[in-house]
Amino acid sequence: MIFPAVLPSLRCVTCGSTFGFETDRIVCQKCQLSYPVSGDIPRFTDDRHLASFGRQWNKYEVAHDDEDRATFQAKTGIAPGDLKGLRVLDAGCGGGRYSKVCAEAGAIVVGADHSSAVEKATQLCSHLSNVAFVQADLKHLPLEPASFDFVFSIGVMHHDADTKSVFDAVARMVRPGGRYSVWLYRRNQWWQERLNDALRNRTTRMDPTRLERWCEWGGWLGGLPVINKTLNKIVNFSAHPNRENRICDTFDWYAPQFQYHHTEAELQSWFDSAGFNDVRVLPPEKQGQVYRWVYEQNLLIGSGVNVTGTRSTRTNSTVENPGV
Ligand SMILES: C[S@@+](CC[C@H](N)C(=O)[O-])C[C@H]1O[C@@H](n2cnc3c(N)ncnc32)[C@H](O)[C@@H]1O
Ligand SMILES: [Zn+2]
Repeated sequence: MIFPAVLPSLRCVTCGSTFGFETDRIVCQKCQLSYPVSGDIPRFTDDRHLASFGRQWNKYEVAHDDEDRATFQAKTGIAPGDLKGLRVLDAGCGGGRYSKVCAEAGAIVVGADHSSAVEKATQLCSHLSNVAFVQADLKHLPLEPASFDFVFSIGVMHHDADTKSVFDAVARMVRPGGRYSVWLYRRNQWWQERLNDALRNRTTRMDPTRLERWCEWGGWLGGLPVINKTLNKIVNFSAHPNRENRICDTFDWYAPQFQYHHTEAELQSWFDSAGFNDVRVLPPEKQGQVYRWVYEQNLLIGSGVNVTGTRSTRTNSTVENPGV
């Protein structure tokens, strides 16, 4: 879905009206507010905030089809095969790997991200006509509220100054009876949190090129057997089998200004208070008794809390549950 196809879904964040298209801008048909369109992407934000993400997603090739489908299913609780024909929002799409999974499964997808990562996402999905991207803040999405059958957000909201305000704003995009799945960083043991805060206090101030060089060391450590399963309980670095993913994941951890860690109870309570039913905690992607024990002790740095729920239909009884 190239830009003209997404135009009817866009709504002015100030007055809620639709947009018209004029040369290289979209213009609100009511209040005349206008935004640039470049590279087939409407740009409601620029790249100054969350710039590290634009840098990492545009630089590293980290999409792997089979792995991304499996991770999508584990972190949303939805099989890609169940998405055909549904309207799906990827909230914080980054380089677009999960938007691609959904669009290849036949969903009609909108991916939104604050950063220039949407350029990589557009490129990654250039062979698909049923996906479009917008560069926008999730707290002020230029989209019609309650218009998506399924909304998911993987590893995103904890990078805002206020995780819950992003959660609530994105929740409003789910139609009554639609499904919402959110994955956030898990709160670890106090000593891990302290050490991580102290480290990130330094790394988030570093020049990104210098930090990337450190992350290359992290990528090397993550490739060493045994070390990558032990030392990373103390200091986080990625143990992904692919070196480029390891460097990207490690940069992803140490560069962003905000990185909040949450508990399952906290995330479940947000679903409850936003009017979601059938709220369920999703199990971690990896299996095994030892893994499960370490996970449940909150010892795994970079692991998540993962919850899914269905928006109550009581506010609008005309919409049926698609059964996703
Ligand atoms: C760790 S990346 C995850 C990207 C993607 N979900 C994935 O897993 O491949 C987090 C993304 O969230 C985006 N993000 C964080 N806060 C945001 C906000 N308030 N509005 C829009 N995007 C946001 C960042 O720009 C970044 O690309
Ligand atoms: Zn307007």
